[in-house]
Amino acid sequence: MKKRTVDRIPANLEAEFFWSEKTNSGTVADLSENGMLINTRMCLPVRAKFDVLISLEEDILKVPVKVCRLVKKGNLSDAVGVEISNPPRRYLDLVDSLRWKRIKAPSTRGQVIRLFVCNVCHHISFDHAPINCPVCSSKIESFEKAPEAIKRPVNFTDLTEFEKKHIPLITILKNNGYVDVHVTIGEIEHGMDIDDHITFIDFYFNDSVLSKKCISRINFNCNRILYPLTTLRFNTENPGVLTVVSSCIAHGNWLAKASF
Ligand SMILES: [Fe+2]
Repeated sequence: MKKRTVDRIPANLEAEFFWSEKTNSGTVADLSENGMLINTRMCLPVRAKFDVLISLEEDILKVPVKVCRLVKKGNLSDAVGVEISNPPRRYLDLVDSLRWKRIKAPSTRGQVIRLFVCNVCHHISFDHAPINCPVCSSKIESFEKAPEAIKRPVNFTDLTEFEKKHIPLITILKNNGYVDVHVTIGEIEHGMDIDDHITFIDFYFNDSVLSKKCISRINFNCNRILYPLTTLRFNTENPGVLTVVSSCIAHGNWLAKASF
C-alpha cells in the first residue's frame, strides 16, 4: 500500500451522511487534509460519493468525500476510508486546529512541539532541523527549537482583521501538469511600511519523506510600491498539501495550507 504523505490526526467526531435513502450516523476516527476514517456499520461501495456532516460545537461542517477503502470486522462493515479531493476552507481550518492542539499537548517523550528556526535567514523547518538550511545553506547548528515560531489564530473559524492581514490566502490552479500557486498576504492586504512589512513567503510541499519540504522562498524588499503577493509554478504528478508561511517583520510568522 502506498505510504501516506500526510499524517492522520486521531479524532472522535460525530458525523452523519445520507446514503441508501436514509441518514446514517458514524464517528470520524482520524482525519487529515485529504482523507478521513469513518467508523460506521453502513456497508458502502468503493467510489461512493456523498457529503459527510461533522458536528462541531456550534455548527455543522459539510465535507464532500469519496469512499476509497472498506474496513471489515469478520463479515461486517466496521469503517470506511474516504478521500477528500476538494476540502472546504473550514475543513482545513478544523484540521489545523486539531493538529495544533495535538502539537501543543506534551507527548509521552516530553516533546512539546517540533519547529526549528534558522538563525541566519529565519526559515522554519518542521519536524526536524535539516543538515543544511534549504534557503541559506547554513549548517544544522544554526537551527534552534522554536515552539512558538508560528502564530496561531485565536479562533480558526472566526479570524480577526489583524489575523486576516497576516495569514496567507492561497489559490491553486492546475494547468497541463503544472501547479500554479497564487499567494496573497492576506485576505485583507498587508501594507509594506518600513516597520511593518512582509519580508518573505516560504513554500512547502509534501514528498515521500517529509510532510513539509521547503521548495521555494520569495523575498520582498521593504517598499511601499510593492504588494505582498506572488505566484509560484511547479510541476508534480502527485496530489498533496501545499503549506505556505508568511513572515511579517513586526508580527511574526503565519501559516496556511491548501490541498490539491
Ligand atoms: Fe504585520
